[in-house]
Amino acid sequence: MRTVYVNGDYLPETDAKISIFDRGFLMADGVYEVTSVLDGKLIDFDGHVARLERSLAELEMASPVTSEDLLEIHRALVARNGIEEGMVYLQITRGAPADRDFVFPDPDETPSSLVVFTQNKPGLADNPAAKKGMRVISIDDMRWGRRDIKTVQLLYPSMGKMMAKKAGADDAWMVQDGFVTEGTSNNAYIVKGGKIITRARSNDILHGITRAAVLRFAAEAQMEVEERNFTIAEAREADEAFITSASTFVMPVVEIDGVKLGDGTPGRVAPRLREIYLEESRKAAI
Ligand code: PDD
Repeated sequence: MRTVYVNGDYLPETDAKISIFDRGFLMADGVYEVTSVLDGKLIDFDGHVARLERSLAELEMASPVTSEDLLEIHRALVARNGIEEGMVYLQITRGAPADRDFVFPDPDETPSSLVVFTQNKPGLADNPAAKKGMRVISIDDMRWGRRDIKTVQLLYPSMGKMMAKKAGADDAWMVQDGFVTEGTSNNAYIVKGGKIITRARSNDILHGITRAAVLRFAAEAQMEVEERNFTIAEAREADEAFITSASTFVMPVVEIDGVKLGDGTPGRVAPRLREIYLEESRKAAI
């Protein structure tokens, strides 16, 4: 059985408990991070902790532990659960006040809750989907206006995945005012004439940790990157497309709303970026 971490304790997953008054449960008043694990080591951990601290600060939420503690907890869970490839999920919520109330509780009386658990995913790096590429549909982006904060309000992204599934696709790209924001749980890119195009960072998208690393590696490899809005019409005309996230790394997209990109197989840029990302990230893993 998996060992998980809840508010200071390492416990078997069936013994881990959170109050029914926890604001994460009642109000989605919580933030999270997903860090991938390769070769039993954490990928881009510092980036995930930096974004977590930013999310917490934006919501005036206190962290119950230091970033050093978080590293120790992540490593302990990876070791205890024997994770070679997979993910570590971390969630901090505004804790469990005595009763339900819209007003934030006093942090001195109501400490934040911290939950961390691992997900074992052998074959995460060698994912066969990366060879085939994925199919996406476009849907309206109906999320709130602070998508740069990594909150646990994932109902609309979850509905988006279901819309994709019902349409026989793998994921959905969300569109706002005619322009693609991002995927349901990943950042979105197109490639045209060798140039990598992706929406610039703002409150409209999550500032992906994988995105930052991939854009850095692309620049180092002399690839041209343009951070700007693009439409679904432009994406359908692109040579290639792909997504990035901690759980998919770099994953080619070969079809948008039923229209094949190029010959309908992953092109050259996305697979190359995946290779570079995996190689460099493994080297820097801690
Ligand atoms: N999702 N955009 C959204 C809306 C996301 O939920 C994610 C990550 C990303 C990519 O961010 P990063 O490269 O830091 O993983 C972009 C995680 C993996 C999840 O919810 O499981």
